[in-house]
Amino acid sequence: MNIRAVAVDEATRLQAIIDDCLHLEGPMLPILHRVQEEFGYVPESAKQVIALALNVSRAEVHGVVSFYPDFRDHPAGRHVLKLCRAEACQSMGCEPLAETIKEKLGVDWHQTAADGSVTLEPVFCLGLCAQAPALMLDGEVHARVDEHCLGDILAEVRR
Ligand code: FES
Repeated sequence: MNIRAVAVDEATRLQAIIDDCLHLEGPMLPILHRVQEEFGYVPESAKQVIALALNVSRAEVHGVVSFYPDFRDHPAGRHVLKLCRAEACQSMGCEPLAETIKEKLGVDWHQTAADGSVTLEPVFCLGLCAQAPALMLDGEVHARVDEHCLGDILAEVRR
């Protein structure tokens, strides 16, 4: 498949998502969620197409993507590691865990390890406050995370 065919395919998939969601009340968030599911992120080129479809500015779409931590405007690594930074997890030591993760992976928040293995993202409550600190790896939650099980998780993402 050549580059133009890939671009046409992406445009078709994007338009199908927009067509599916346009009838919804407040369609921007559903469209953005579906785009991220489909492509793994919200490509810059998609923002303009979404803006035109919703009759808003590209800056408005960009603002929504930037505001919500769930959206990303660059491709993620093979794994996505989300560490909870909300109050309960903070009180149970999520910040030292964050420092360990950053140091071991050589990343900061919203960055992907150089080998493309994992993207680190903050999240603000996973609903596991009573079992803090918590994280989510590729959609699977892990509770009462300590340095020991964090080591296993980091080994898993680097495989
Ligand atoms: S504060 Fe971390 S899971 Fe609720």
